[in-house]
Amino acid sequence: MTKFSVNDRPVEYRMDPETPLLWALRDASNLTGTKYGCGTGDCGACTVDIDGEAIRSCLVTIAECEGRLVTTIEGLSRDRSHPVQQAWVAEQVPQCGFCQSGMIMAAAVLLRGNSSPSDAEIDAAITNICRCGTYPRIRAAVRRAGR
Ligand code: FES
Repeated sequence: MTKFSVNDRPVEYRMDPETPLLWALRDASNLTGTKYGCGTGDCGACTVDIDGEAIRSCLVTIAECEGRLVTTIEGLSRDRSHPVQQAWVAEQVPQCGFCQSGMIMAAAVLLRGNSSPSDAEIDAAITNICRCGTYPRIRAAVRRAGR
């Protein structure tokens, strides 16, 4: 049994400890805001916050999460939208939307450490892939959220 925290709640997964966190979140916890894109760490659709870092959840086993704090898009804010989510709406970022929860998680982690990132810093920190090419709107939303 693997125990850690997801969105400030203790969880215990009775699954193979080598199960990727992505699948534990989606299949066992029904937290389907974390998306499966590639499964190889390339696209970033599965990005979650683990102990304050933006991590591709398809590359982390649940055993590696033991005792750690995991936050998904569902746990990013409690009663109202997170400032990053508000900025995403204001800048009308999503097109198809599939990659956006991972983008938002990566942006929230970035802004926690740097409230005024340059475009180069945004590009370096958010390496997620958006097949719709919404990168200019993502940068605008990150800048807005940091204000
Ligand atoms: Fe994890 Fe693509 S699904 S990086």
